Amino acid sequence: MLGSGFIGRFYADSIQGYRSQDKIVSIYSRREESASKFAKDYNVPFYTIDMEAAIARPEVDMVCISLPNNLHEAAVMLCCKHKKAVIITKPLGRNAAEAARMVNAVEAAGIFNGYLEDLVYTPKFIKAQESVRNGALGRILWAKSRETHPGPHSEWFWDIEQAGGGCILDLGCHCIEITRSYIGKDILPVEVMCWADTQVKPIDAEDHAIGLVKYENGAIGQFEVSWTFRGGLDLRDEVMGTEGTIWINSFLRTGFDMFTTGNGGDYIAEKAESNTGWLFPVGDDLNELGYNHMFMDMFNAMEKNEKPKETFYDGYVVNSIIDACYRSMKSKLWEPVKLDIWRGKTGVSKDSHLVEYDKDHYLVKEEMTHYGAKKTIVKHKQTGKISEIESK
Ligand SMILES: NC(=O)c1ccc[n+]([C@@H]2O[C@H](COP(=O)([O-])OP(=O)(O)OC[C@H]3O[C@@H](n4cnc5c(N)ncnc54)[C@H](O)[C@@H]3O)[C@@H](O)[C@H]2O)c1
Repeated sequence: MLGSGFIGRFYADSIQGYRSQDKIVSIYSRREESASKFAKDYNVPFYTIDMEAAIARPEVDMVCISLPNNLHEAAVMLCCKHKKAVIITKPLGRNAAEAARMVNAVEAAGIFNGYLEDLVYTPKFIKAQESVRNGALGRILWAKSRETHPGPHSEWFWDIEQAGGGCILDLGCHCIEITRSYIGKDILPVEVMCWADTQVKPIDAEDHAIGLVKYENGAIGQFEVSWTFRGGLDLRDEVMGTEGTIWINSFLRTGFDMFTTGNGGDYIAEKAESNTGWLFPVGDDLNELGYNHMFMDMFNAMEKNEKPKETFYDGYVVNSIIDACYRSMKSKLWEPVKLDIWRGKTGVSKDSHLVEYDKDHYLVKEEMTHYGAKKTIVKHKQTGKISEIESK
């Protein structure tokens, strides 16, 4: 494990927390006291402040990178040097150029690589995606994902140089991969329109943004992100298809409401801002955030010599979309997504949206009204005339 901070500990809880056979055998942290504390807390036999020494140990099968964004590339290069399987937290890089170098390096080294996008492994997401794949929603037209919270917990996130960006990079990376997964990861993201602003915090990066990602098949992905949202961690998805709709609320208001005067513990759920009054706890943070299913996929895939659901390549696609968002935020125009590496389909056109009514007409809309009349609106195939057909 590289990094003993916020996410390193979430990951460790998930990896070792359920009588798992997987064990953390080596921990690197920047400061010795953090490394030794982590080693003690998680029963890790070796700790160090030398990153390469942590990676190179012979008992290490896989390296998990849980470091600030500006250290991802150097850590990945060390994994390549020592030919260790590597899994990395999000975002892969601070930008697409860094991400591309990492993809090329792990593939040239021939090592297993996984991208730890936990939010496409939440139980609700897995079930929703299965329904989308089964056709329950028909053709996916629009997928929206929102992640807003009161801002990150460590100083480096707020420094644009170390973090690489603001809430678009930090939170938008989740939303973009979620919506991309609903629309189809083999569908080319073509262009992006993004609004972003620094509305509240004294920082150089954006603390609010909304973005639209247009896909080659006509579907639209939308993200909403904020580092200054008050009231906890708001994680929601909406998916709309020609045959159905999915709404998911992953963290706030999940059906678990509690009132307390504040006599219990301080921790309610990730980024909860209060521990008194009406609260919205989460049954099991690790599971609700997807960590358990994510590590299961990573370890199973490595054992079977297969690719996990999320690889470095996915991280690169996300970084490329985010780069386009930053360009659009400045230009205020639709900006093309530049993908030097693309492994999905190309030349996909919008599916036909025409529904046959009879040999001369396409169906526009059918509706039963409150006064008992059935309304049927059609369009004539040749003339294009819209008309209403008497109920049959
Ligand atoms: N849901 C998620 O997937 C999720 C959530 C939070 C963070 N993250 C990602 O995890 C990575 C680490 O974030 P975090 O929240 O754990 O950060 P953090 O500040 O809590 O921990 C970072 C750890 O990195 C180590 N470190 C080594 N050199 C360092 C340096 N120069 N400066 C600071 N720390 C250094 C330390 O062990 C430190 O504890 C980031 O890439 C972040 O985007 C992912």
